[in-house]
Order: sequence, then structure tokens, then C-alpha cells
Amino acid sequence: LERTFSMIKPDATARNLTGKIVAKLEDAGLRVVASKRVWMSRKQAEGFYAVHKGRPFFDELCDFMSSGPTVVQVLEGEGAILKNREVMGATNPADAAEGTIRKEFATSIGENSVHGSDAPETAAEEIAYWFAGIEIVG
Ligand code: GTP
Ligand code: MG
Repeated sequence: LERTFSMIKPDATARNLTGKIVAKLEDAGLRVVASKRVWMSRKQAEGFYAVHKGRPFFDELCDFMSSGPTVVQVLEGEGAILKNREVMGATNPADAAEGTIRKEFATSIGENSVHGSDAPETAAEEIAYWFAGIEIVG
């Protein structure tokens, strides 16, 4: 089974949407095999989003991600990476399909409620950024 990294962002934890978002992930056939609540520092946000360094939205993104609690998770399932991204919906909620997490809950392209890895290599890196192997229970 494939594993991916998922994050519930500060806009969603602030509105108490953690359970509703996890329910959508589970309904899609994904299993939560690791989960913890983290209020990341600005430095941790910069490290996590290092691939976006230099983009115009980088500072705004790192400010937002360190502005409140997030829930970091490892999801497991068949084709978990793609499946998670399907359930999340398009980055900009205005473009997100009906029934997706971002369509239902996201408020803007920046405050878009969830993150999900986009490929096997990034999934492995992102999981290792937040979790020790012993914290993942399949
Ligand atoms: P992630 O799962 O969070 O990586 O989303 P994504 O893969 O759909 O989008 P991408 O990797 O291109 O961008 C990462 C994150 O940066 C997005 O989820 C947004 O939160 C933020 N972001 C992307 N584009 C913009 C933008 O134009 N403005 C702002 N404020 N934030 C943006
Ligand atoms: Mg991305």
C-alpha cells in the first residue's frame, strides 16, 4: 500500500474542521496511520516549503502556516498520493470540483485547508520531515 503525507492547515483547525476533513479522507478509502497536532515555527514552515522559496507567495505561505495549529498525518491506501489529491481538490477553491475538501471548506488559494504530497519522492521526504518511523502504525 502507498503512503502519503497530509496536513490540515491553520484555517481549518481554527474553524474546528479537523474531524470533517478526516472523515472525507477516510470515506475515500484512506487510512490515518500517523497523526499529531503541531504549531510549526516560521523556520519549520520555511524548511517544509523550501521548494517554493523565491515564489511571490512564499512569505505569505510561511506566515500563514506558522499562524496556528496544523494536523500532520500519514495516510495509507491504494494509490494514496493521487487519491488524497483528488479528495483535496484544486489548489484554488474557485477551481475545485464539487464534493472536494477545498470546494467545501477552503476560503482562498492561500488558506486552502489542506496539503497533500504530489509524488512518491516528496511523500517520503515530507513524511520524514514530521515523523519518526516509530510514530507510524500501519
Ligand atoms: P499543497 O498540497 O499545499 O502543496 O498544494 P498544491 O500542491 O495544490 O499547491 P502548490 O504546491 O502549488 O502550492 C503550495 C501552497 O502554496 C498552496 O497549497 C497554497 O497554500 C499556497 N499558494 C500557492 N499559490 C498561491 C498564491 O498564488 N497565493 C498564495 N497566497 N498562496 C499560494
Ligand atoms: Mg504542492
